[in-house]
Formats: sequence, C-alpha cells, structure tokens
Amino acid sequence: MTARLPLAPDTAAASSPGLIPGVSPDLYREQDFVAISRILQTDAGIVLPRAKAMLVYSRIAPLVRESGAMTFSAYIDLIRKDPVARNRTICALTTNHTFFYREAHHFEHFAREVRPGLIRNLEAGGRARLWSAGCSSGEETWSLVMTLLGEDRAAGTRLAGMDVRVLASDLADHALERAEAAIYPVTDLKAVPRELVAPWVREEAETGILGPEARRLVSFRKLNLQGEWPMRGRFDVIFCRNVMIYFDGPTKERLVARLTEQLLPGGWLYIGHSERATGPAAAMLTQTGPTTYRKRMA
Ligand SMILES: C[S@@+](CC[C@H](N)C(=O)[O-])C[C@H]1O[C@@H](n2cnc3c(N)ncnc32)[C@H](O)[C@@H]1O
Repeated sequence: MTARLPLAPDTAAASSPGLIPGVSPDLYREQDFVAISRILQTDAGIVLPRAKAMLVYSRIAPLVRESGAMTFSAYIDLIRKDPVARNRTICALTTNHTFFYREAHHFEHFAREVRPGLIRNLEAGGRARLWSAGCSSGEETWSLVMTLLGEDRAAGTRLAGMDVRVLASDLADHALERAEAAIYPVTDLKAVPRELVAPWVREEAETGILGPEARRLVSFRKLNLQGEWPMRGRFDVIFCRNVMIYFDGPTKERLVARLTEQLLPGGWLYIGHSERATGPAAAMLTQTGPTTYRKRMA
C-alpha cells in the first residue's frame, strides 16, 4: 500500500479528464473524489468543490492505508457498509478552523444587548439557554461562556448557580473532545479581554484551563445539523457561525428555518461573517447588526 501512495506529478494524468494530477490513478481517481463528495454532502450537507480533490486525498489517504484497502475505490466500498469508518471519514473532512473571540463584535453585542436581559430573567427565577452549534474545538463556546459570566467573579459564580445551560455541539468527534477538554495554549486566549479571562481560566505555565464554574454550564453533544435534533426546549441565543458556508443554498435555507424554529420569540441568532439568513424563515428574523438577528416576538 505505502508503495502506491502519491506518485510524482504525472503529466498524462494531469491532462486527462477524470484523473487527478499528482496521484496514481490506480489509487485515487476523479470518480473516487465524486463518490466521497456525495457521501459527505448526503451525511453532513457539506459541499466540496472540485478544487478540494487533493485536500480530500491528503485527509483520507491515512484512513485508506490504515483500513488495509488497496485503493480509494475499495475504501469507499468499505465505508458504504461500515458506519464507524464512514463517521471517521466524515469527521476527517470537516474544517474545524476557529479561534477565541472570533468576530469580537458578536461577543460585545451579546454582553451589551443580550446578557443584561438574560440576567434579569434568571434573577426573576427564569432560565437561560444558549447553543453554540458547530462549536468545533470550543473556542467559540468558551468565549461565550466567559462573556456570559462576566468580569466580576462573585457575580458570575452566583450566575453559574442559576438555571443557565449552554449546549455545545458539533459533528466532528475530535473537535468535540478538544472542546470538552477546555485546555488551550494561553497565547490562544490573548484575543479575549483580560478581565473576562482572569476570573474563569486557571493558567499553568503556558496553558489555560477553563475553571469549574464555566465547565459546569456546558453540555457537549455530537449533533449533525442535518439530522434529528433531540433538544426539546428552545433557546434564548444561538451561535451558528461559519458552518453553513459549507452548505448549498437549499440546505442553508433549511438550516436557517430550523434554527429560527429553535429560538424563543425575541431570541438571538449569530451567524458567520460571510453568511446570511436566507429563505422564508428569514422573515421571522430582524437583522439588528452585522450577521446578528433577533426572532420576532410574534
Ligand atoms: C469552521 S468551523 C466553525 C467553528 C466556530 N463556529 C467558529 O465560527 O469559529 C465549522 C464547524 O462546523 C462543523 N460542521 C460542519 N457540518 C456540520 C454538520 N452538518 N453538523 C454539525 N456540525 C457541522 C464542523 O465540524 C466544524 O467544526
């Protein structure tokens, strides 16, 4: 198998339609890329442009090798029958790029416009429900949790004792594991205002570890946004950022409709900087700022 891994660029392959330059056509062909793309789109909604053919190769070749399959085609036959191998393949093809306090204006808006109302409601005996959908390795979730708990350790600890829950979900197991571990290089936390990090993160040498008050609030779940959503309750706030960029138009519209349905009246939806809330459900949302939406009261 190892001997058959990528060969030197092959000019004949490069110029022949249906072949992928740089890889032996005995091992990985255009039709293999198409088959893997279809599986990924069916299972996860993610659309892979043709330009990603080599990326697919580099992400999947180690799994092909490990499985003992001699070609991508044999590996594709295997994942059609084996749900565990199929899940690993899907996870390996997700893009998990994220960072703390990404699109800072969302967290600033949340702190200024949303948090005070949530606190008032909690203090009156109500509850607060937040969802970080497509949380990747957790930087978004923990940025949100630190912003929710705030700068005052005593007040934040009291808040953490109230009926407040954060759901953090993703499709990719490896990303969720990192999110739940909640351990990051301190340099990664630099973008978050120091006053929000200091009360909730324990720093040991070069490592920052989210503390128990923050961790207690969050439940991590593997959840495919294209599948069933097991949650019964609705949310005050949903962050679903930089996830639907990978989906086609109808899939985006369906997702916006489902997210809107999952919001309480007056609830807030934050999406990624290059995304838009589209489709019929968008009529139920009022855009209040860049990629920031509020569900209408009725
Ligand atoms: C680029 S990351 C964005 C992370 C974070 N929300 C942010 O904005 O920094 C996209 C995440 O969406 C997840 N994802 C993609 N398709 C998904 C699906 N169908 N269901 C759930 N998560 C999905 C990927 O696994 C990945 O971790």
